Amino acid sequence: MVCLLKALLETMRSFLLAPSIIACDFTRLGDEITACETAGADWIHVDVMDGHFVPTITVGPLFVEACRRATRLPLDAHLMVANPDQQLEVFAKAGADRLTVHVETCPNLIQTIERIKSLGCNAGVTLNPSTPVSALDAVLPIVDLVLVMSVNPGYSGQKFMPEMIGRVREIRNKLNALRSESCLQVDGGMAVDTLPLMYKAGANVFVAGTSVFKHPQGAMAGVRALRQCVTN
Ligand code: DX5
Ligand code: ZN
Repeated sequence: MVCLLKALLETMRSFLLAPSIIACDFTRLGDEITACETAGADWIHVDVMDGHFVPTITVGPLFVEACRRATRLPLDAHLMVANPDQQLEVFAKAGADRLTVHVETCPNLIQTIERIKSLGCNAGVTLNPSTPVSALDAVLPIVDLVLVMSVNPGYSGQKFMPEMIGRVREIRNKLNALRSESCLQVDGGMAVDTLPLMYKAGANVFVAGTSVFKHPQGAMAGVRALRQCVTN
């Protein structure tokens, strides 16, 4: 029943919020997740970084498992790793609901997307700011989510790249032409002044780390501020 209500809420909202949990206070992981959930966050975004594809090392499947025990919200795993194909199953088993891979790391992208789906997860695809949008073309008709990176992947707290506004518009047009209902997600530098720009360009799911977890009044206030920053 609770799940049905959450699903209904998702379809009614004009955009979804996915707090990026690596920006939280890890000593209070469960409480930080609960705060997001209470304030109306829709998904929890987990940034998996391996120190190869990106310079930083963050968290792995054990962390996803811990998040899974802390919430019923969908877990959205953003795999910034070399060779994600080798890791898909372990993240699905850890409880991720969505797995998003980078085109730069997948030599057989169609096969990777199909594998994610066969593991029972929603499949997302993303690309670095310097990768051409055409790299997505082959999989646009089959993915559940397209993620536009509005910073170079690797760290929380970077400055939003306004050049990516046009990229969101371009991908929104491509999805519309395909009559696709896939999510169009943005990740990097989302705050009360930047989120509305990407919303107006056609995105409908927003990842936010710093603006949620470093909000002076805490994560609940951070989520609420983002929820209210779009005025139609
Ligand atoms: C960047 C990550 C982002 C990042 C978001 O590599 O994919 O999810 O942690 O953090 P903010 O919102 O602080 O840019
Ligand atoms: Zn991310």
